[in-house]
Amino acid sequence: MVYLVCSSSSPDAHTRYNLQLMSSPTEPNRPGGYALPTGALQAQRRAKRELEQADIHLLGDAAKPHEPTKGRLKAAHSARNPNTRVYVGDCRDVLAKLPERGEVDLIFADPPFNWDVPYESWRDGMSRAEYERFTFDWLDGCIEALSPTGSLWVNIPDDTAAEIVLHLKRRGLTMINWCVWHFRFGQNRDSSFIMSKVHALYFAKDPDQRIWNPEHIMELSDRASVYADPRTMAKDQNKGLRLPMDVWYGKYWGRIQGNNKERRHQHHNQIPEVYLERVILACSNEGDLVLDPFLGSGGTCTVAKAWGRRSIGIEHSAVNAKSAWERIQAGMVRQGAAVTPTEEASLNRRRRSD
Ligand SMILES: C[S@@+](CC[C@H](N)C(=O)[O-])C[C@H]1O[C@@H](n2cnc3c(N)ncnc32)[C@H](O)[C@@H]1O
Repeated sequence: MVYLVCSSSSPDAHTRYNLQLMSSPTEPNRPGGYALPTGALQAQRRAKRELEQADIHLLGDAAKPHEPTKGRLKAAHSARNPNTRVYVGDCRDVLAKLPERGEVDLIFADPPFNWDVPYESWRDGMSRAEYERFTFDWLDGCIEALSPTGSLWVNIPDDTAAEIVLHLKRRGLTMINWCVWHFRFGQNRDSSFIMSKVHALYFAKDPDQRIWNPEHIMELSDRASVYADPRTMAKDQNKGLRLPMDVWYGKYWGRIQGNNKERRHQHHNQIPEVYLERVILACSNEGDLVLDPFLGSGGTCTVAKAWGRRSIGIEHSAVNAKSAWERIQAGMVRQGAAVTPTEEASLNRRRRSD
């Protein structure tokens, strides 16, 4: 722990401040700044129990919860090796009937934002209370579907991020990261700063048992690629590499539009493959089960299949589901964009900048 102690030691006009830095043995070289000496996760772990027991009230709590429909579940599209299924329906109904409840290793959810988007079949304009209730219902369905080692990612803009974070915390999940996908296609406006991000919220049922593969998604460090700093090459392993930071942008991270090779026409808000690849490689293993409750253009199952994961997609629109299925069969177009480069690559990069 680092403490900055300021004390006024003189009553005269030239007040002097004694600045004393007291560092604990855990982090002697990092005075101040944004480093949490015990680790950011430790702070989340500590708060977990209090948050679970806290009396948190959100607007959607007053609205009536959804009653899942009864009846048998039948996949609209399915294939083997790896087992891949797409269900058409309301994810709140499908999640409640899923045979794999409690066994899903990773969920990636990119819900409708309640922004009046003209989706193929979904009405994207609820009252605020209804929308929050809808959000809590599908989140609860996801929590039940997750395995004890599972992770949940939610892609959500500013206006509902806080409510989702609070809901997941009061349900006992632990926040591992609050990532930001930064893009540069926000609509121009002059009343406030231009929107240029969506939140990528990463939660786990158990932070200590979660599936986590940092070695699969490393990238070149600034030390290797910008500063030619020899310290990064002196490491025993992962020379010139480090984990990505929690703000995501760069090549292939832009909007999927125009004649972008990834583009699926008639799909709103298509997430880039590289984003899904990073999440899937980091938080699941080959053979694991990945689920997307708002499949849209089918990116999650497409990337999961390419990397040997089983997957389940749920989509309200039969038309979207059919298009997603075609994409899943066609496969990824940029496989490998989020994969850790070799140490050799970082070495070459450094040589070039020397
Ligand atoms: C934001 S888009 C997802 C986009 C997707 N991530 C992609 O990259 O293409 C939301 C999708 O969820 C679908 N949807 C909306 N409400 C749903 C519900 N209750 N259950 C299942 N799907 C739903 C919409 O039809 C739409 O395709």
